[in-house]
Amino acid sequence: MGYDFDVASEQTNRLGLMAGKTCLVTGATAGIGQKIALELALMGADVVIAGRNEAKCAAVADQIKKESGNPAVEYLVADLSSLDQVRRLAEEFKARRQRLDVLVNNAGAMYLRRQNSVDGIEMTFALNHLSYFLLTDLLLDILKASPPARIVNVASSAHKEARLDLGHVHDPRRYLGFRAYSRSKLCNVLFTYELARRLEGAGVTANSLHPGLVATNFLNHNGPFGRFLNFFLRLRGISIEAGALTPVYAASSPDMEGVSGKYLEKQQAVRSSKRSYDESLARGLWELSASLTGIRSAAQESFSSSG
Ligand SMILES: NC(=O)c1ccc[n+]([C@@H]2O[C@H](COP(=O)([O-])OP(=O)(O)OC[C@H]3O[C@@H](n4cnc5c(N)ncnc54)[C@H](OP(=O)(O)O)[C@@H]3O)[C@@H](O)[C@H]2O)c1
Repeated sequence: MGYDFDVASEQTNRLGLMAGKTCLVTGATAGIGQKIALELALMGADVVIAGRNEAKCAAVADQIKKESGNPAVEYLVADLSSLDQVRRLAEEFKARRQRLDVLVNNAGAMYLRRQNSVDGIEMTFALNHLSYFLLTDLLLDILKASPPARIVNVASSAHKEARLDLGHVHDPRRYLGFRAYSRSKLCNVLFTYELARRLEGAGVTANSLHPGLVATNFLNHNGPFGRFLNFFLRLRGISIEAGALTPVYAASSPDMEGVSGKYLEKQQAVRSSKRSYDESLARGLWELSASLTGIRSAAQESFSSSG
């Protein structure tokens, strides 16, 4: 199914599909994430959106409630480039909810100029990969307690351009924004495959996807040159509504029940890059991510199917 598919009739068919399910969507204060959250709310889900700006979170949550007619929309605030704030987000979520049926890791950015996170980690890697890794780990217990549960990692076809040298992954000697971005998206795909292997039989699936080239404001936070590039993204990209189709499909479609360890484009499982299937690279990335996020070995074991 392509991007030309009938969004309106598909939405009508899906009404009520997610009733009784709790979903957490990160980066839901703009762009694709906001649309994913709206679609899930329209389907009757209890939706928690996560964003870094409290005023924006409140406004978007209100807007989603109004547009969907679903009052079960809440928000949590966290800057996901900070490991401490990811930890706090997970704690706050668990303090409010007993179950989590769908986790959509979507918050992401491209930084044309190199910067470090508050933890001293290169920002693209910290936000685009480590937040997915850590948030997933910290919420895995309630995902496992809500089978069949789903983890949806928004990656990008940009991963196909990437190489990953684990020795220099968050400390690139020569920083190029697109290179750091595509590498972080390769990390999303490698992480998802490794996660799916570790979750086999646990009642939790994990898939990654490319939403398409989507006309969001993705590059706007990068000064005048970023705004110039974003102009072309708006010109060439598909609508945000179309960009949300594949993540919403992964999060909610009955076709995806029990399907794990896939990479999707246009709502179909397709091959990702050759490098993304390198299992020893995926294990190496896992170990590096575990050590950077300070995940204890017991928590790492929680990823295994027996946990
Ligand atoms: N647009 C595309 O063509 C495209 C293509 C392939 C993949 N993707 C992927 O799709 C995902 C969403 O991108 P988008 O195009 O929708 O981008 P977007 O419109 O810029 O939205 C990004 C979202 O992430 C949030 N975010 C950014 N930094 C954050 C931080 N430090 N902590 C918490 N939240 C943060 C933003 O919050 P604010 O509202 O506060 O800025 C916003 O809600 C990303 O993972 C991206 O890599 C996009």
